[in-house]
This record gives sequence, structure tokens and C-alpha cells, in this order.
Amino acid sequence: MKNKLLSILESNMNSFISGQNIAESLNMTRANVWKEINKLKDEGYEILSKPNKGYSLVSTNDILHNSRILEKLNLFRPELLEVHEVVGSTNDIATTLARENPSLMSALIVSNSQTSGRGRKGRSFYSPSSSGIYMSVLLRPNLSLEDTQLITIAAALAVRQVVYDLMNVDLSIKWLNDLFIENRKVSGILTEGELELETLSYKYLVVGIGINIFQDGSVPEEISHIYGSVAESKNVDRSLVIAKIYDRLLSLIDALPVNKHLLIEEYKKFSNVLNKTITISNRDPNESFKAIDINNYGHLIVVDEQGVKHELNSGEVSIKADSYEN
Ligand code: BTN
Repeated sequence: MKNKLLSILESNMNSFISGQNIAESLNMTRANVWKEINKLKDEGYEILSKPNKGYSLVSTNDILHNSRILEKLNLFRPELLEVHEVVGSTNDIATTLARENPSLMSALIVSNSQTSGRGRKGRSFYSPSSSGIYMSVLLRPNLSLEDTQLITIAAALAVRQVVYDLMNVDLSIKWLNDLFIENRKVSGILTEGELELETLSYKYLVVGIGINIFQDGSVPEEISHIYGSVAESKNVDRSLVIAKIYDRLLSLIDALPVNKHLLIEEYKKFSNVLNKTITISNRDPNESFKAIDINNYGHLIVVDEQGVKHELNSGEVSIKADSYEN
């Protein structure tokens, strides 16, 4: 009932529709329409009511709801879509689902906030209520082990493209999976999975995507120097952003077997580390490298001060402040 009522209100967005019309369409009494409208208001939907005019949905931008995400998916549909108000971590939920339901081939788990949002290397991901996107995509891709890094690359490109298309914000990508506006991080991706040893392939992969949409209140001090967000205000339709990212990610993954090279070429265009002097997290911080390329597995190719090439398949890099470009 709620979904049908919402879609009626949404198709008359910002104009009034009478209680009588709604009641007839949904085969219910006007008193029940009024009750259902009040429930939606309690959930945070902004709905105006005027005598003799009816109801008008003013804004749904801030609401995450299954039906709003589903109706915006154009190309792909997860077998399961869960939208939560608050969870520990959407990656944990997707992982449990993958383990407990071996026949579940795809799922999208979204939450309005996370209490234990996780980043790489055991770091936490700040996930305040309503002002960010916290989504995990469960996949069972038929990919060789060496190509799994390409999934994270596809996710970074999907986020970049959708943020550009919908918000006109141009993000750069710091290898491997952080997205930046200038020197502020606005999005991170955490890909996790379980390996099947006999076949050396993944039983499942969970791609967790976190995006800071707008800054609502104060940011924890330890990340305030690096924290950024993609929008100035909360006027962003998060359901649309989520649906578009899902569609884009799945399209890129679908095309992967033949399009690896194109994917990497696209990724390189937006890299903010190529041609920069960098340091590598698990090495001596005084050792400098120059990032020169990203190969078809998504590995970063760097050259050390002696001119020796190295291939990095994991780890984290930092761009040196006095980095040069050429
Ligand atoms: C990073 O910056 O190191 C990666 C951050 C990934 C955060 C997302 S938010 C949705 C999903 N659930 C999590 O607990 N983490 C990922």
C-alpha cells in the first residue's frame, strides 16, 4: 500500500492530488488515505495537505526506500534489495547473506547510516545518518582471481561517472579506490570476498561503496583535514545516485571480459597519482617513487629513485606534497 501511495504522490510531485482521487485509485477510504499519508510524514516525507486540494509531495530527496531505488534502476535488478535505517556495516550484512544463501546471485544492501562502517586496513568509515550513501553490492562474478581488482576499478569509475552526470562534480581517483575533490576524500570503496581454493575464484564478492554527500554537523577531528563531500546541501536524490551507480557498476562488470583495456584506459584518465611522486604505505616513508602506469590488472607501475620498476598490486600510496608533473 505504502509503495502504491508513494508512486501516486511521486507522479504528481509538487502538485496537489485529492484524497478522493487517491482513495479511488487505491480502493480505500479517505480516512485510510489520511492515515497512510501521516505514516509517510512520520517517516520523513515532506507532504503538504490543503483543504479542498488534497496532498502534495514536496520532496523525497532525503528518503531512502526500496521502491524509490527499484523504480530508478534501468538496466539491472538485484535479486534482493534491502534498505535499512541503521546497520553496523552494509558489507557485513551482504557477506552474511552471501554465506548463508549460496544460490543468491546478486543483492544490494543500503543503509541510511552505519554504526561500524569499515574502510580498508581496519579503519572505520564515518557514516552519519542521512548525509551519505552506504551501499554494498553482492556479486558472484565469473572472473579469474587476477582480474578481481578490476571490480574495484569499475566501482570507482561508476561512482565518478554518476557523481559527474548527476551533480556535475569532477572527482579524481587515487589508486586504487578512493575518490577525491582536490585533496579531500569524498568516497571510498571496500571490496571483500571469499576465495574458493580449488578453483582459485571468488565464491562471492561484496563491493562496499561509501560516499559523503553533504556535511551535516561536525566531522570527527581525526578525519577533518581530509574529509570532503560532493554537495553543498542535502538537495541530492540519494536513491537515484544509488540506482545509477548499481546500473553503471553492473554494466561495466558485464563488459569486463572483453573491455578490460578500455576500463583501464578510462580509469587512467581520472587518476590523480599518475606522473606524481608518491610514497608507499608499507615501505620507508622517505623512499620516493614515480607512478608511471596502471596495467591491465589494475596494478600500479612505479619507478624508484634508482630507476627500477615495481608493480604494486595492493597497498596504499600517498602523493608527495612537492610532487611534480610532466
Ligand atoms: C575506505 O575508504 O577505505 C573504504 C570505505 C568503504 C565504506 C563503505 S560504506 C558501505 C560499505 N560498508 C562498510 O562498512 N564499508 C563500505
